[in-house]
Formats: sequence, C-alpha cells, structure tokens
Amino acid sequence: MENRFEFLDREHAELMASLRKLSRSGKKTGASVTDLLAVLEPHFAKEERLVMPMLFLANRLAEGEHVKMDSVPGAAHEIEAEYSIMFNEHARIRELAAYARAAAEKEINSNAAETLDWLSHHAEIEEAIVYPLALLAAKLAKFTV
Ligand SMILES: [Fe+2]
Ligand SMILES: [Fe+2]
Repeated sequence: MENRFEFLDREHAELMASLRKLSRSGKKTGASVTDLLAVLEPHFAKEERLVMPMLFLANRLAEGEHVKMDSVPGAAHEIEAEYSIMFNEHARIRELAAYARAAAEKEINSNAAETLDWLSHHAEIEEAIVYPLALLAAKLAKFTV
C-alpha cells in the first residue's frame, strides 16, 4: 500500500524551509522565528519518527490488512508515553509563534504572518486528527496483531 501521508512530511519540509528563511530576515521577526525553530526542529523530528509511521499503520489496519507483529513500527510502543508531551510542545510552540506573529505584524511582514498562521493550522490538524489517529493505530495494533 502506498503511504498516503507523505504530504505531511512534505508540509514539514516546506514549513521548515519558509521559517528558516524568515529566521535570516533580521529584525525582531527573524530573531523570534529563530527562537521558535529551536523548539520546532526537534518537535518535527519527533513527529516524523513517532507519528508518521503510525498513520501508515492506521491506513493498513483500517483497510483490513493483516499486519504482522514484526512489521509494526517501534513507534507504536513509544507514542503513548509521548502523546501528552507532544501537546505540551504545541503549547510552547504556540506561545513562541504568537510572539513572532506579533513582531511580524509590527514590522508589516505579511509573508511571516502567513507562514506563522500556516504553522498554527498545521498544529490544529495534528491535535484534532493526526495525533488521535496515530495513537488509535498504536492501541489497535496491540489488540489485533
Ligand atoms: Fe507537525
Ligand atoms: Fe506538531
């Protein structure tokens, strides 16, 4: 089965490229985006390691594929412990993004403001859909595999 969640990896790459560019733009917006990146980079890396493999597993389970134990990603055993931590990371990311967003507005940097809004939307989708789906797949794997 193809991995239908590759667009999320692409979105991470695109967000990261835009934010890194903004961080080099100087002024207060650039400095506050640099602070944001310090938290965001390890957070994205964690999602790519723990969350993305669970989404592919969710697709396979949903479509009735017989998933063998040795093909369940190791992330299935880690995601439960990391679940609330990732929400806490989002809270910190939101704080830093709001700070950068305010600086962008003050400096009339609409490109920065749009990128930061995109990041907020990304986090909302993760909290409402992506994280719960990933956790459900990990839990379900325990019962069905
Ligand atoms: Fe993400
Ligand atoms: Fe996230």
